[in-house]
Amino acid sequence: MLHTLIVGGGLIGTATAWRLAQRGHRVTVVAGDRSRAASQVAAGMLAPVTESTFTETPLMALNLASLERWDAFATELAEAGGRDPGLHRHPTVSVAATPDDAARLRDLARWLADQGQDCRPLTSRELRTTEPLLGPAVRSGLLVERDWSCDNRRLWLALQAAAERAGVRTVAGSVTAVEHDGDRVTGVRTDGGELLPADRVVLASGAWAGGHELPFELPVRPVKGQILRLAAGDLPRLSTTVRAFSQGFEVYLVPRSDGEVVVGATVEELGFDERVTAGGVYELLRDARRVVPVSAEYELTECRVGWRPGTPDNAPVLGPSPLEGLELAVGMHRNGVLLTPLVAELVARSVAGDGLDPLARPFTLARFAG
Ligand code: GLY
Repeated sequence: MLHTLIVGGGLIGTATAWRLAQRGHRVTVVAGDRSRAASQVAAGMLAPVTESTFTETPLMALNLASLERWDAFATELAEAGGRDPGLHRHPTVSVAATPDDAARLRDLARWLADQGQDCRPLTSRELRTTEPLLGPAVRSGLLVERDWSCDNRRLWLALQAAAERAGVRTVAGSVTAVEHDGDRVTGVRTDGGELLPADRVVLASGAWAGGHELPFELPVRPVKGQILRLAAGDLPRLSTTVRAFSQGFEVYLVPRSDGEVVVGATVEELGFDERVTAGGVYELLRDARRVVPVSAEYELTECRVGWRPGTPDNAPVLGPSPLEGLELAVGMHRNGVLLTPLVAELVARSVAGDGLDPLARPFTLARFAG
């Protein structure tokens, strides 16, 4: 039986491994330090509409296709892994704090309407009925019913359980190089110098994907994000995800069912800078308090740094590579949790020889050629 190695034990790598094992493939995941993975740090927004920007129309189609799969994916995963994958079917409100922020939100709403997206402008009164914890600074907003969220830490545990049950093996290791014989992949090498042979390799190594020794350029870079976790305890809890334009800054608050609220995130081009900074935490808490005043009373339980896998156009790199047998599942940037069901399905199909789905074709490495 052919053996596939998946480089990266995050959400994308584990989900792809699970999908391949379901097809009867022999699969091994090579997982680095999981505590540093974006899968652990992320907020888990499933937000193709409220996270989209004017320049990313092709990506929005991919993100929407993945959102469509989420409900069935979560149900199947709960069954296969025997654990709750943490999907929350609550809506998102996108709000504005100042008149300038409101103008920006109106522009976004117009563009979303042009794209045929389902988002409903809310009056100040409607906003407060939808999310009573919004502060007095917030005057306008949009309701997006289908921008849900998922507790990425629960999701990851569910995926690991499902993959293990399906027969996926996991080995610890940090991959430094992809080995090849001419144009054909032969395995990977780890930082301990060990050679792990394989018939096929899938790169799903997140922000670290641009650092492997490869016979071609893979334009993936780490984009630092600082992110906080608060605990509401006995205080009033959010019932929606809140995204805000707040005095020119952006902030989001994502509630979990246990009272945790994830507040994020900075966007910093500082490579693998590990520092949680006073300024980063201050700005996130300041903006969160302006939009949801009670958040200042919550307990601050975690301040973390993660690295989004960024690409030149903020979209993923999927499917075949210049090396035969090496498939790419990298560059999810801000959308790793959202894209997990779709990317795992498309890449598993491509690895299995079913060809690249039309949905993935705009996102191959070839688009960066020249
Ligand atoms: N998707 C949220 C973030 O990248 O901060």
